[in-house]
Amino acid sequence: MSDATRIQLTLRDITRVYTPNNHQVQAVAGINLILRQGEFVCLAGPSGSGKSTLLNLIGTLDQPSSGTIHFDNREISSLSRSASALFRRSAIGFIFQTFNLIPVLTVFENVEYVLVLQGIGTDERQTRVTMMLAATGLTELAQRRVTELSGGQQQRVAVARALIGNPLLILADEPTGNLDSTSGAAILELLHHLNREHRTTILYSSHDPRIISLADRVILLQDGKIIEDRIQPRGA
Ligand SMILES: Nc1ncnc2c1ncn2[C@@H]1O[C@H](COP(=O)(O)OP(=O)(O)O)[C@@H](O)[C@H]1O
Ligand SMILES: [Mg+2]
Repeated sequence: MSDATRIQLTLRDITRVYTPNNHQVQAVAGINLILRQGEFVCLAGPSGSGKSTLLNLIGTLDQPSSGTIHFDNREISSLSRSASALFRRSAIGFIFQTFNLIPVLTVFENVEYVLVLQGIGTDERQTRVTMMLAATGLTELAQRRVTELSGGQQQRVAVARALIGNPLLILADEPTGNLDSTSGAAILELLHHLNREHRTTILYSSHDPRIISLADRVILLQDGKIIEDRIQPRGA
């Protein structure tokens, strides 16, 4: 089987029930889903439909109440805390609505930090971060503190940081939620370009029709269930 059709992620009968104040909230209510290596997918749906919960389950930040998740044939839905941390570091890149950058560090240092955690030496870090900043259009801003940047620029730093460790899968929870529509579309274009170039699978969530329309495949959630799963021709 060619790489293009290789199954990367399989969710089987996933549920996640929260029990705040002794009442039950079924945030994810029986999801079955297959993602293939290199797909560019939007998880769409209104606020409260379960998008963040599902992304957190796939990213092993949380565990399902029932069901299994396999990543490259390995079950990741019941890993210990330390095993899931290792898995995330090696396989997953996260991008959040609120950017989650380290304010006291420069653009360069925010991206480099991932490689420091991976134990990569100074020379290789320098080379790789320089290349990644060029690929994300951040070369000129490398020595700026991230707090001095616009929202769109900060989100580009978050994209660079998510990609620098060569993850197999990027999970982006409403990555354009705090951006104006022009910056939001630009971030999606950047992600799509990197998806094509590196064949990184990208799964992002959004409830903005314009941002949803930029995906190759749209999975629509409602009340914790998939109500539609469609391939769409890309406009633009
Ligand atoms: N930590 C939590 N405790 C209790 N309920 C939660 C928690 N997180 C999410 N929920 C509930 O689960 C449902 C799905 O939420 P969420 O996954 O955040 O949806 P979305 O990201 O699509 O807005 C909502 O009803 C929400 O209120
Ligand atoms: Mg959410």
